[in-house]
Amino acid sequence: PETITVGELAERMKKPAAEVIKKLMLLGIMASVNENLDFDTASLIAEELGCTFEKEIILTDEEKLFNDVEDAPESLKPRSPVVVVMGHVDHGKTSLLDCIRNTNVTEGEFGGITQHIGAYRVRVGDKKITFLDTPGHEAFTAMRARGALVTDIAILVVAADDGIMPQTIEAINHARAAEVSIIVAINKIDKEGANPDRVRQELTEHGLVPEEWGGDTICVEVSAKKGTNIDQLLEMVLLVAEMKELKANPDRPAKGTVIEAQLDKGRGPVASVLVQNGTLRVGDLVVAGTAMGHVRAMNDDKGRSVKKAGPSIPVEILGLSEVPEGGDVFYVVEDERKARAVVENRKFKEKQERQKKTTTVSLDNLFEQI
Ligand code: GTP
Ligand code: MG
Repeated sequence: PETITVGELAERMKKPAAEVIKKLMLLGIMASVNENLDFDTASLIAEELGCTFEKEIILTDEEKLFNDVEDAPESLKPRSPVVVVMGHVDHGKTSLLDCIRNTNVTEGEFGGITQHIGAYRVRVGDKKITFLDTPGHEAFTAMRARGALVTDIAILVVAADDGIMPQTIEAINHARAAEVSIIVAINKIDKEGANPDRVRQELTEHGLVPEEWGGDTICVEVSAKKGTNIDQLLEMVLLVAEMKELKANPDRPAKGTVIEAQLDKGRGPVASVLVQNGTLRVGDLVVAGTAMGHVRAMNDDKGRSVKKAGPSIPVEILGLSEVPEGGDVFYVVEDERKARAVVENRKFKEKQERQKKTTTVSLDNLFEQI
């Protein structure tokens, strides 16, 4: 059964624990600060002390309170894929990301100055692809640690003159654990000593059998330096995306993940977020980790101010109360009271965790001294 300690209840209500204990005594319950109370007792006490204590807010899985309802199949519309580039050091992740971005930002797009918001979108024909701009495993680990699965497809960059290396294997494992589709970009084919077939051989040894060898792993030979076959690589991304039938419901309050965030001197907390479901709008009330606030302004990856952002679209948002962490899940919340309760609850838990840690540390110190 769900319970709350006397101390926790007092802290949530911002009342001294003694007051809670006194009220309990009047009810004939003798309890210490660490005593567990059931919900009925807790809410009774809360009421007595002039606070509303709502079980649903405090005791249940808080994220369920938000818009966590399943989407009806008919509400789902196709969305563009979210892609991350991974691979061993120096195999060309950054070069590839730059190359993709440069060949695609220019034509026909206004305000072509790309902002760094942790992700960007490129157009391929009449389709779009969202790239997470943090190459490597960080994009995965930080987000996966918080249970946020953001990417659909991983482009695994393997230098043709170097082959599969430890971090390539690590990347394969990360992508597999996250159940993300892998497309291999065999890079640096312009280089002397490039041996794409050796890469294919090594891929096979790690369970990624190339299509041309009868398996189902798509490999594209590219040169990020010369811009060779980049279009073909992007076509393959779209092909895989199509097979995955990626969908989302744009007609609901937004939910997504914080890609990165920082405190900006002039603008306050700034968070780059990826909308994964629903549509995020200026004015929406957002909760992200222990941060909340109404979205005051939004910018897209080209630095343009936008009023709304649908599924798979990365935007930078202003208006949060504090800086959330990369990987934090964000939700649009309709009920400000619930939002506040959830944030308070999270802060409370964080504080508890910190206190726990400090206690452990000081105990260790104590032993050292002895
Ligand atoms: P880290 O971020 O350090 O892990 O490296 P990275 O994977 O981002 O590699 P990066 O793009 O920085 O490229 C490493 C080196 O390889 C640079 O000197 C690039 O110029 C070079 N390079 C990248 N792609 C190619 C290519 O297709 N051909 C050739 N010849 N050189 C390339
Ligand atoms: Mg790099």
